[in-house]
Amino acid sequence: MSQFTSAKILVVGGAGFVGGNLVRMLLGKEPRQVVIVDNLLSAERFNVPDSPGVIFIEGSITDDTILRSFEDDLDYVFHLATYHGNQSSIHDPLADHENNTLTSLKLMNHLKGFKALRKLVYSSAGCSVAEKTFDQARPTTEEDPISLVQDSPYSISKVIGEFYSVYFHRQHGLPAVRARFQNVYGPGEVLGAGRWRGTPATIWRNVTPTFIFKALQGEPLPVENEGVASRDFIYVDDICRGLMACAENGTPGDVYNLASGRETTIMELANLINDLTGSRGGIASMPARPWDHSGKRYGSTDKASRELGFRASISLDEGLGRTVEWTRANLPLIRQCMEKHRRHVGE
Ligand SMILES: NC(=O)c1ccc[n+]([C@@H]2O[C@H](COP(=O)([O-])OP(=O)(O)OC[C@H]3O[C@@H](n4cnc5c(N)ncnc54)[C@H](O)[C@@H]3O)[C@@H](O)[C@H]2O)c1
Repeated sequence: MSQFTSAKILVVGGAGFVGGNLVRMLLGKEPRQVVIVDNLLSAERFNVPDSPGVIFIEGSITDDTILRSFEDDLDYVFHLATYHGNQSSIHDPLADHENNTLTSLKLMNHLKGFKALRKLVYSSAGCSVAEKTFDQARPTTEEDPISLVQDSPYSISKVIGEFYSVYFHRQHGLPAVRARFQNVYGPGEVLGAGRWRGTPATIWRNVTPTFIFKALQGEPLPVENEGVASRDFIYVDDICRGLMACAENGTPGDVYNLASGRETTIMELANLINDLTGSRGGIASMPARPWDHSGKRYGSTDKASRELGFRASISLDEGLGRTVEWTRANLPLIRQCMEKHRRHVGE
């Protein structure tokens, strides 16, 4: 028996990469019902599990008719909706506002009086908090100050979601817990998933799936700025376990890093992926992206370990190995999703 057994759970953005994995993990806990609301902006319908325990509502959580359909019988809410990702948000800040800020505000405003709700978990981003440095990184803690200088509307929206989580908790007792993700990778992140969002980043999403796809084709991996930037890569099963730990043990109003605590440079990642796939494509050196000042970063794991009992358990080698296998097995599907954007990039 877990706290999710027999629970009614809403997953906003549940057709996405993390959301789809989370829903599948939750279903293993035998909830009463999992309701997914997703407008398929950066997701595909096939990622919604075909299960009698799942109800899928296709649409935006900002839609009043959808919001009003939720009554005070939800036990848990996971809010994962976002306008994916940094570059798309720079291209269209208003679309980011609609799908990354308004989503949080309208959802929390609707849930604020709910008495049955045990926890709302908001998926925030460690990148909004991390110090922008190319010197030695130190682990970002939950107590670090949040700068007013942010690289993208995406990042601003993630901070605003945190502001509202804290506000609705203090003002209305909403049991909101903030989970600050580091860089998630793993099976289920489909390149090109969803609708065109104005830039080729619609297709290429994050660094890990991009490198794995290119390596499997034997192409050189595009490494910017000599690959000196570093990230904290966390496997998607660990993130899902961390989100569930936030729901089970997180203190309302509080915030927790979901991190591996391990720093990996982009060059290390590229070399590891070339080794794992046996690619002879090597590395293609690229200039730094002008908007990206993020540099080096990784998250502190102390608070989540101490207060939630959460520690990431899948090593980068193991997680990348699994992701390479999943990508290899799903190449036709992934190519199909990438292909539908071809006319936009004029290839
Ligand atoms: N993946 C990472 O490395 C990472 C890092 C930091 C934070 N996060 C956060 O985790 C969450 C999940 O990220 P992901 O990687 O699974 O991204 P994703 O793009 O796969 O998932 C986001 C989902 O939200 C849906 N969505 C967009 N607008 C919506 C709306 N108006 N109403 C309902 N659904 C909407 C999308 O269609 C998609 O399914 C996001 O909030 C993201 O900001 C992710």
